[in-house]
Amino acid sequence: MPSAPKTQKDAASPSRKGDFDAVRNDIASILDQPDYDDGSIGPVLVRLAWHASGTYCAETKTGGSNGAGMRYEAEGGDPANAGLEHARRFLEPVKEKHPWITYADLWTLAGVVAIKEMGGPDCKWKPGRTDFVDDSKCPPRGRLPDGAQAAEHLRFIFYRMGFNDQEIVALAGAHSLGRCHSDRSGWEGPWSVTPTKFSTQYYKMLTKFKWEEKKWEGPRQFRNEDLGEELMMLPTDMALIEDEKFIPWVKKYAEDRDAFYKDFADVFSKLIELGVERTDDYESAPTFSKAEGDKKEQEAKSKI
Ligand code: HEM
Repeated sequence: MPSAPKTQKDAASPSRKGDFDAVRNDIASILDQPDYDDGSIGPVLVRLAWHASGTYCAETKTGGSNGAGMRYEAEGGDPANAGLEHARRFLEPVKEKHPWITYADLWTLAGVVAIKEMGGPDCKWKPGRTDFVDDSKCPPRGRLPDGAQAAEHLRFIFYRMGFNDQEIVALAGAHSLGRCHSDRSGWEGPWSVTPTKFSTQYYKMLTKFKWEEKKWEGPRQFRNEDLGEELMMLPTDMALIEDEKFIPWVKKYAEDRDAFYKDFADVFSKLIELGVERTDDYESAPTFSKAEGDKKEQEAKSKI
C-alpha cells in the first residue's frame, strides 16, 4: 500500500495508463479537507463506494459497482444517494489527471484508499469495471437500505446482494466513520467521537451505552451523550442489538479488533466486486469507441 505523498511535485507528476498506485496516491492526497465536515472526505468516499455497489441483486445479476450509474439522474438522483455528489466532485481532479481510469474503478478504489488512510484494513481491490455509456442499465431505485426500518428490512436488502447476518454486522461497522446530515438523509450527527478514524467504536457505543429516542422535529433517531458530545444511532443501527442473531456479532466486534478488521476487509472487498464482470483483457472492455466514450463522459460530467 503506498503512503500518501502530499507534495506539489507528486500532484503534478504525469499519469501512465494502468498506474493505479499513482491514482491511490492522488486519492490519499485529497482526503484532508479542513473546511469539509470533520476535516476529511474519507467517510463520504467510503459511502460512495458502498452505494455504487449496494444496488446489486444476486438473482437478476443487475446493479452493483460496474457502470458508475450515479453519474446519471436515474441513479444519482435517488434520494438514498443525496450528498454523494460532493464525493464525486472531490474525485473529479483525480479523474482528470488519470483519464484512463473508469469512474466505476475510481469510486471503489477511493473507498478502499480512504479506509486504509483512516486507519482501517487493506481491502482487496481489482480494476476492470467499465462505465455505462447511457442510463438504460441503471438499477431501479429503492435497493439501498432505509435507516428508519428494522432487522427484517436489513436482511431483505443485504440478502439480495448475497450477504449473511455476520457480513451485515461487519459492513455496518463503517458507521464508526462520518456522520448523518439533515440536508441529505434528514438524520443528524456522528456515530462516534472519532468520525475520521476507522475503529471498533460503533460496536462499543452500541453495546456499552444506553440509547434513548431523540426528541426533535426530525426523523426518528437515538441519542447518547456519555462521551461528552451527542452521538447518534439510526433505527437500523439499533436493530443490530435488538436482533438475537445480529447481537453476538456486535459483541464480538466490540471486543475483537483484529476479527473486525479482517472480516470488514473481506466483506468490503466482496461488496465492491458485486456486479463486476471482467473480460480476459479488461483494459479493452469498454464497448464504445473512444470518441463516443469521450462525448458520453462530457455529458456525464455535466451531471456530476
Ligand atoms: C445497514 C444499512 C445502512 C443504512 C440504513 C445506512 C444509512 C446511512 C445514512 C442514513 C447515512 C447518513 C447520510 C447523510 O445524511 O449524509 C449514512 C452514512 C454513512 N454510511 Fe451508512 N448505512 C448503512 C450501511 C452502510 C454500509 C454497509 C457502509 C459501508 C460499508 C456505510 C457507510 C457509511 C458512511 C461511511 C457514512 C458517512 C458518510 C458521510 O460522513 O458523509 N453504511 N448511512
